[in-house]
Amino acid sequence: MGTIFSSIKDCLNKMFSQSDNKSINKDEFNIIPQSEEKNIKNTKNINGKSIPLLTLSDDEDKKEINNNKKLSSSKGDNEKEKDAYQSKEFKSKVTLNDFQIIKLLGKGAFGKVLLVYNEELKKYFAMKTLRKDYIKKNQQTKHTKEERKILEKIDYPFISKLYYAFQNEKKLFMITEYMPGGEMFYHLHMNDHFNENKARFYIAEIVLAIDHLHKNNILYRDLKPENILLDELGHIKLTDFGLSKIMNNIEKDRTYTVCGTPIYVAPEVLTGQGYNKLVDWWSVGVLLYEFLAGYSPYREARTKIDIKIYKKNLVQDPLISDTAFDLIKKFCTFDVSKRIGKNFEDIKNHAFFKDIDWVKLEKKEITPPYKPKIRFAGDVGNFDTMFTDMSIHSTKRNKEVLVNSSTIKNTKNTYVGFTYIDDKSKK
Ligand SMILES: Nc1ncnc2c1ncn2[C@@H]1O[C@H](COP(=O)(O)OP(=O)(O)O)[C@@H](O)[C@H]1O
Ligand SMILES: [Mg+2]
Repeated sequence: MGTIFSSIKDCLNKMFSQSDNKSINKDEFNIIPQSEEKNIKNTKNINGKSIPLLTLSDDEDKKEINNNKKLSSSKGDNEKEKDAYQSKEFKSKVTLNDFQIIKLLGKGAFGKVLLVYNEELKKYFAMKTLRKDYIKKNQQTKHTKEERKILEKIDYPFISKLYYAFQNEKKLFMITEYMPGGEMFYHLHMNDHFNENKARFYIAEIVLAIDHLHKNNILYRDLKPENILLDELGHIKLTDFGLSKIMNNIEKDRTYTVCGTPIYVAPEVLTGQGYNKLVDWWSVGVLLYEFLAGYSPYREARTKIDIKIYKKNLVQDPLISDTAFDLIKKFCTFDVSKRIGKNFEDIKNHAFFKDIDWVKLEKKEITPPYKPKIRFAGDVGNFDTMFTDMSIHSTKRNKEVLVNSSTIKNTKNTYVGFTYIDDKSKK
């Protein structure tokens, strides 16, 4: 306990070698909708996280950047593109060339996330890149569009904000605020577990974020420490809407897609009988347990998925107080009809949160329990060196355009409407 690990890899290797040897070799991947599972054979567990290896190598990246440069310098080849570029409307549009690539921050199923810098705004951003061919091959087009739509729609203190979305022939790009505090995954495993005050603060901000999504008819479906980031002050930011779903009416509708991450997912997602917003509250319960005890109560689901795992009575780890455990049990109630969360007030009013001022919390007026160490703007010190030490070939800033929206429409592009610019960010 309390050991400082030099990297997440060391940390996880140590954790697994002490406790559950089998889990080192077992995958803990996102579950892909059943019909699509066969396409995800290439996945491999990296450092205990759910990161399928389906991404570009650095060489491919370099090749692509060169292709982009060729494309952008051949304006004359396509008069329509040229006209669009010169039009007033298009000048306000943003492309890959507006961003200098600094570092790799993380890798996921269909692309990667890079730290980028915009010279004009003198600002760092995170750029999520998704490869269109992988997305199409794995039938993830709908999820990707949904992710982009949600990010655009939502503007909330504890949810990642989309500044720009654009695309070229091969990739989709989403530009969000850079969260220099790093992943909750990193902090949790550096600390082994959190004390109750710290866990309460994070869970309370997460609870507000989930409720805000639900109020906007959005199911989140992928709550886990890797998708919770910290800003420079230590407030949480929910990211990754790749598995989220926009419902017509979240209070009435059910959905059926089997997706999520086994140790956090609610059991009714796996049975295929339909589920609703209560799946997110189950995951909040798992997270609270993990924050306090340092491990997931359903960690067996890492090696085998069996509904019995989720049915068993939870064991109260000595690090978990009675009040916290009571709330965890209410979140992780197998019988959905008895689970807490139908009314948000029931969660807010639980004794575990009795000292939380929800109004102040939402306004970010409560000082976070921990301020991440950030040495300078663009510091990646809170991210795993496994990613940040990888070499990235940066693009030179180039005022010419790569692909414009009119070309996109004219080429029967599947991602019409993907491009997005947040006006407020152009101050
Ligand atoms: N805005 C951001 N600021 C800093 N890091 C980010 C940001 N967005 C994503 N990341 C990093 O990239 C990782 C993968 O991003 P995510 O959106 O979760 O993609 P995936 O769908 O591939 O899991 C995150 O776990 C985090 O480490
Ligand atoms: Mg993720």
